[in-house]
Amino acid sequence: MNRIFKVLAIESSCDDTGAAVLKGRSVCSNVVSSQTVHGEFGGVVPELASRAHVQNIVAVVDLALKQAKIRPAEIDAVAFTRGPGLLGSLLVGASFARSFASALGKPSFGIHHIKAHVLAHHIEGVHVQPPEFPYLALVVSGGHTQLLKVHDFELFEILGQTLDDAAGEAFDKTAKILGLPYPGGPLLDRLAEEGNPEAFRFAKTRTDGLNFSFSGFKTSVLYTLRPLIEKDPAFVQNHLADLCASIRKNICDSLVERTLEASAMTGLKTVALSGGVAANRLLRKELAAALEEHGARLLVPPLAYCTDNAAMIGIAAVLRLESGKTERTFADSLIKPRIPIDEPESSAQAQ
Ligand code: KG4
Ligand code: ZN
Repeated sequence: MNRIFKVLAIESSCDDTGAAVLKGRSVCSNVVSSQTVHGEFGGVVPELASRAHVQNIVAVVDLALKQAKIRPAEIDAVAFTRGPGLLGSLLVGASFARSFASALGKPSFGIHHIKAHVLAHHIEGVHVQPPEFPYLALVVSGGHTQLLKVHDFELFEILGQTLDDAAGEAFDKTAKILGLPYPGGPLLDRLAEEGNPEAFRFAKTRTDGLNFSFSGFKTSVLYTLRPLIEKDPAFVQNHLADLCASIRKNICDSLVERTLEASAMTGLKTVALSGGVAANRLLRKELAAALEEHGARLLVPPLAYCTDNAAMIGIAAVLRLESGKTERTFADSLIKPRIPIDEPESSAQAQ
């Protein structure tokens, strides 16, 4: 039987300050404090994000420990996000985690943020049966869009990825064109429910292989609307639901098409969805239906484990510890804004 590792995990890669406590693969607490300071700027302001992390982190960690009813001395290890993410934000979480671990005389482990998004599927209770390796993963968030073959908990192969904007970014930027407040993705999704997805046709960029591209589509939304708004300043307001539905369909169609192709190419029949865009109603519905039609299945974790959270950082650390990799490596001491998901952790010092 596996030893039950008790891990305190910290996530601070972007604009959410998160802390979680795991006992083995089960989550005892998962606290997230989302920063609201960025709304008026229409996007995340890195300097404000790192300052807000500094303000929030002590309270968030304290609450996570209290909710888990665990004393710091009982913790076996502290895990933190080592990247990808905003450098200043990463630094706050990593510095706090290392200091906390050092004060306790326990090791601290740096975790790859995107791997953690995927590994959230292995948290106890998320699925009756967690996905068996190898499987496919589609990670769609505000910063990332990748189709991955997950060989095991640390070996990830990129099958396709966005060549420009991430899917969440495509939602947020087109929502901004429509005048919706940041982040526009969730609101656009809600408004789209009442609209006709065939009302507007926007450009769809064909890419090589299993890659994605959304920047041409975004420009197409802008250029389609510009003359219409010049003629009628209330055009967007009067067609808001149809515009949202058409935009949503365009983005979702690309994601569904490529995922189906990846499943056909690899013969893998399980697709694990992760990232904030996994909340999108149409994506969940269409992707599940399309995969089922082809004898494959879609796994979606609860939303709290899709958006940025510390429980996913914790499970990545627990899986690593369970595999016997209990020693700190050079990669654990590196924080980087960009880390290719297929970069072997053992080659981190070559960077
Ligand atoms: O994973 P996440 O919380 O943070 C990172 O970007 O890492 O994802 C946030 C992204 C934002 O772009 C947000 O607009 C998008 O996920 N999002 C949605 C929906 N909910 C969140 N996009 C489309 N439909 C949604 N329902
Ligand atoms: Zn994320």
